Amino acid sequence: MDGPDENLSVFISDLHVGGVNKKLAYTRPRLEKVVNEILAMRPLPKRVICFGDIGLSYGLAADYAVSRPILQRIIDAGIDLHLTMGNHDRRSSFLKYWPEYGQNAFVPGRFTQVVSLGFADLVLLDTLKGTDDRAENDMGPVEGTIDPAQLAWFEKFISEAKRPFFVGSHQFRDLYIEGAKPIARAAKSAFFAGWLYGHDHSWCPDIAVASWGKHLICPTLALPSTGLWGDIGYVVFRTDADGATAELVQSDFYFQTPTAHAVRPRFWASRVQENQGKSMRFVFEK
Ligand SMILES: [Fe+2]
Repeated sequence: MDGPDENLSVFISDLHVGGVNKKLAYTRPRLEKVVNEILAMRPLPKRVICFGDIGLSYGLAADYAVSRPILQRIIDAGIDLHLTMGNHDRRSSFLKYWPEYGQNAFVPGRFTQVVSLGFADLVLLDTLKGTDDRAENDMGPVEGTIDPAQLAWFEKFISEAKRPFFVGSHQFRDLYIEGAKPIARAAKSAFFAGWLYGHDHSWCPDIAVASWGKHLICPTLALPSTGLWGDIGYVVFRTDADGATAELVQSDFYFQTPTAHAVRPRFWASRVQENQGKSMRFVFEK
């Protein structure tokens, strides 16, 4: 069997798998289905990247106790797995089941990563604003941030980039920092190719103005959730010498749970049908 395809990645987000709230236990088999499909891909992707909200609601250790064995199957298949934090995560609980994230090479105390996607890099930011000392049943702030140390590292990365790069984070529209917005900073480099994010539970290709003065507009893509609510699925991402193509694989849509209505609203099936075969193309300017 051929090995994993270096240029092929799978993006998953908003897993929301937990060990306590039984009403939301349906997210676990949804994640298992996604993992099964990833492991059935041929060629296998070189890597799977998770854009946060691994925990269900509060980032309990019990959440990660459930999701680690499911995600471990990806690693056991020889596929690289990269995880970052969402607003429903908690670093200290996460580290109990993912101790390998304890020493970050770039920003102490954060889970910031630089991952090769083949023909481009991905800067995976850690935008979790909630602190580890918040109460166990405190979800923490919904919005995200890039702390000053991570921002300084990020700006250095941008200034030194020598090949195309994407930026990934949990929040994007809900991401706030002091001064110029994050996408404006990324777009200072002609190698910046697009911003990928979770949090919205919706397949949403879009554009964002990075600078009116410099006439810069950047592609952005919001990813589906593997199972909690909204667009349910994942994204297959393939880089080539000219750019990258994101392809949506969507299996369902519901709000707020699959059984929230006695009769499924007609829009749910319509949304799933409309989204079949959707893709987004990114091109490298440099
Ligand atoms: Fe989420």
